[in-house]
Amino acid sequence: MIGIYFSGTGNTRHCIEKFTKAYDPEAIVYSIEDIRLPELIRSETEIVFGYPTQYSSMPKILRDFMIQNQELWQGKKVFILTTMRMFSGDGAGVLARLLETFGAAVIGGLHLKMPDSISDEKVLKTTLEKNRQLVTESEEKIKKAVQKLQMGKPPQEGLGAFSHLAGLFGQRLYFYNKTKRYTDKLTIHSKKCIGCGKCVKLCPMKNIVMENGIAKSGDQCTMCYRCINHCPKQAITLLGHRVYEQGWIEKYLQK
Ligand SMILES: Cc1cc2nc3c(=O)[nH]c(=O)nc-3n(C[C@H](O)[C@H](O)[C@H](O)COP(=O)(O)O)c2cc1C
Ligand code: SF4
Ligand code: SF4
Repeated sequence: MIGIYFSGTGNTRHCIEKFTKAYDPEAIVYSIEDIRLPELIRSETEIVFGYPTQYSSMPKILRDFMIQNQELWQGKKVFILTTMRMFSGDGAGVLARLLETFGAAVIGGLHLKMPDSISDEKVLKTTLEKNRQLVTESEEKIKKAVQKLQMGKPPQEGLGAFSHLAGLFGQRLYFYNKTKRYTDKLTIHSKKCIGCGKCVKLCPMKNIVMENGIAKSGDQCTMCYRCINHCPKQAITLLGHRVYEQGWIEKYLQK
């Protein structure tokens, strides 16, 4: 088995690592940012995919990766896990349907509630304790899902017709434009930026460059929120106008 994921703030990376280690201690997980990945996929039959739900859809960077490598998915046996803060009708289903068109067999899906990565929106913010609890509960859910998979009865979250309708009418119809293309809406507040370059290094899309000692954003943002959650000066926003609370998985792991 191999694990393949995309993760902005580490929630999904954490979950897929837990999942694959419980299922097969030898399994290794790779980010889609790893350029060796296409070669590694060829020799594997069983794959676990992981990604954060964005409006009951998948990040544009992942969709593009799947399409660019579409000849790789034929005959693969796939399990899909998605992370979210609150709700996703068919978070796993969107990738399942795409993979099936490329000839893969999707055997199961899992939806995991994790801390919210949208640091510039107040609405889903909660306490550190509650966020840690979310992570612990998801870890428990992962253990049970792996047991079911090993018994030949993998969970089917997000995969059925009802989930499809919930995702479509609950979110995707209203928000589809947000994940259809990359966005140019990332704002770097130049007065706050100290030119440390952290965001440039972290961005999976190479969407940020330094210009005259200040970070500057382009139009290829996949809304992963990695830079926004890590900027030491809270100088970056996307959906909101100010950063309320920055977060990443290490902050929520129980000591
Ligand atoms: C642009 C964007 C859209 C999101 N949409 C949803 C959503 O529709 N429902 C939800 O429950 N969580 C949503 N989230 C929250 C993330 O899915 C959640 O925090 C996820 O665990 C982040 O994973 P990561 O750390 O691997 O990036 C959204 C996050 C972002 C950045
Ligand atoms: S991480 Fe923040 S402070 Fe550092 S260069 Fe980027 S925007 Fe500027
Ligand atoms: S600009 Fe920031 S939010 Fe956008 S893709 Fe790059 S790291 Fe992610």
